[in-house]
Amino acid sequence: MIIDSHCHLCDERLRPRQQEIISVLKQNGLESVFEVGWDLQSSKDAVELSNMYDEVYAIIGTHPHDAKNFDDTSREYYKEHAKDKKVLAIGEIGLDYYYDLSPRDVQKKVFEEQLVLADEVGLPVVLHIRDAYKDALDILCANKDKLNNGILLHCYASSKEMLREFNKLDCYYALGGAITFKNAKKDDVIMAIPEDRLLIETDSPYMTPVPFRGQTNVPYYVNLVVDKIAEVKNVDRSVIEKATYQNTLRLFSKYNR
Ligand code: NI
Repeated sequence: MIIDSHCHLCDERLRPRQQEIISVLKQNGLESVFEVGWDLQSSKDAVELSNMYDEVYAIIGTHPHDAKNFDDTSREYYKEHAKDKKVLAIGEIGLDYYYDLSPRDVQKKVFEEQLVLADEVGLPVVLHIRDAYKDALDILCANKDKLNNGILLHCYASSKEMLREFNKLDCYYALGGAITFKNAKKDDVIMAIPEDRLLIETDSPYMTPVPFRGQTNVPYYVNLVVDKIAEVKNVDRSVIEKATYQNTLRLFSKYNR
């Protein structure tokens, strides 16, 4: 069985198709999907969806794009619902200097505050980092004592060298559709990620893998990510399915089927 560790079925592009998508997960080999919030409302939606469907789990938090809207109400909601059975982690949180949709100082502050929050509630963190790996690493290192519940770097897109630094913090890495785009450097990164630290994801509706690039991504396309990793590592896809499944269970210790 496989798990899509990162999707956004509450994005407006997928919302009308939620039921249809969830109903075909099993026949596509998926045991479940992790629905990731990006602000207060989408986190509430993620919790609600996880309560409606057995196959859906929730990850709640404020994305760096929305850091400027993070407030006490958001913090209180995340703190309260972190106790929910199907809320597995705090995310996606982090830094995005590519779009800079929130001021960088606000992004940093909100990132740090949510690391503290995750520590308080005893949950792992799911990170979104874009063009900000060095600053993210500095913040993580400064908060090392609060990172005892696990770290997942979603859509890892930096170098092998940077990977070594994050390995020191015992990070997990989720790979998605981007690895199917033509770029040999990505194969190096796939090879460099420790086998017991690798997870799979879609980030749907974004990051649609080849050959569906240009269309809307959906969770069951995660199969194409498995195929690509298996091809690069030259192993049977069952090896990748098994390893990523075990890694997902180890990191998200509240996950329970
Ligand atoms: Ni995402």
